[in-house]
Amino acid sequence: MVIGTGYVGLVQGACLASQGHQVTCVDIDEAKVQSLRAAKVPFFEEGLEALVGEGIASGNLQFALGAEEGFSQLTPEVIFLAVGTPTGADGSADLLIFESAVKSLIPHLAPDMVLVEKSTVPAGTGKKVKAWLGRNDIAVASNPEFLREGTAVSDFLQPDRIVIGTDDDATAETLKNVYAWSDAPILAMNRESAELAKYAANTMLAARLSLMNEIANIADLIGANISEIETAVGADPRIGSKFLRTGAGFGGSCFPKDVLALEQTGRELGYDSRLIRPIIEVNTRQAEVFVDKVRAAYGDLTGVKLAVWGLAFNAKTDDTRESPAMRIIGLLLDAGAVISVHDPAAMDEARKGLGDGVVYGKDQWEILDGAQGLLVLTEWDQFLQADFGRVMSTLEQPLVFDGKHALPAEALRGLGLKVIGIGI
Ligand code: UGA
Repeated sequence: MVIGTGYVGLVQGACLASQGHQVTCVDIDEAKVQSLRAAKVPFFEEGLEALVGEGIASGNLQFALGAEEGFSQLTPEVIFLAVGTPTGADGSADLLIFESAVKSLIPHLAPDMVLVEKSTVPAGTGKKVKAWLGRNDIAVASNPEFLREGTAVSDFLQPDRIVIGTDDDATAETLKNVYAWSDAPILAMNRESAELAKYAANTMLAARLSLMNEIANIADLIGANISEIETAVGADPRIGSKFLRTGAGFGGSCFPKDVLALEQTGRELGYDSRLIRPIIEVNTRQAEVFVDKVRAAYGDLTGVKLAVWGLAFNAKTDDTRESPAMRIIGLLLDAGAVISVHDPAAMDEARKGLGDGVVYGKDQWEILDGAQGLLVLTEWDQFLQADFGRVMSTLEQPLVFDGKHALPAEALRGLGLKVIGIGI
């Protein structure tokens, strides 16, 4: 059973069903459950809707409104908790939704069922879950997810590693059986280690990006090229070449939230981290550095017409949470620019944040008419591989701002476009 049908829970449920498990996904949002029963996923994640359809058709995947209905459909061996843990007022993970999900299960739990933390929850939460349950015959384990939005389905089906956190051998065996279809290494550890490993991985990745973005800012001042530096740094096998790409900062629902929550966990334990918060501060500033580049290109942004390709924080998702594109658009609007936008999946999500403040283009080309520059802020293939000859001939001024450092800059320059980014 999976509690919560967001990006994490629904991928977990649909993927496990595709591997032959009987799965019921439970949610308390009636409209969502209705939609999922009709094989309609209320958000976009590549490959997910097809997998949900297949799961329903095979009879392996069911949806239930609330725990009671869930337990009437299935007597689960394992229950994955995959509800949201948003940032609370002090930066910590807010566990109210998580706690209420755990408590909704209490009347239905039977001995030997395994309750699994799939949501990202601070180290030590397992102990709280035990206390909420008030009984000892239900095992509580941690099994963090390492999926990226946009590639979540393939990340799930081809994981690098599966982390299982429990001190109890029988519980570890039950969870290993859930993943028996995968040949990924299983890393068994105690529950606190598994809980903390999740935050460690995200904080490490976010730190790497902020550090590279700072180096890009310095590269700019000295006339160095960050893409070349990235290649040189990444060639060191101790560092590795992945996840070094710089730009206008990282986004998404995980890095900013998890980095702050790790800092707060330390603080609650009496540890004052000096390194963690600047990861977020650098990232927030990076969007401003990017907007300064745009401003510098025009002098004054009042009335300047700019087209934006990309609103989601990652390609192949419609998620705009903490998206650098949304932050940048806000700053440009404040500076008086006139903005038109297009994203293949995230227009509806973006509308919730941007309202009528921008023009929404039906496709990526119509918003170029009359535009004095183009900003590429999400690395969708249709943007990276666009016909830049057409971009050149449509834009009023040949300026392309690359917020992801993902465009073939040389080729664009060959067409007469000026490519502007941080450190390129
Ligand atoms: C991240 C982690 O990568 C996953 O392992 C983890 O499971 C997930 O958080 C989570 O905790 O749920 P996600 O935020 O979905 O995944 O997406 P990423 O692909 O990691 O991208 C995050 C941000 O970093 C994006 O804005 C992306 O553009 C940016 N990024 C990524 C860079 O700026 N440079 C890079 O080289 C890579």
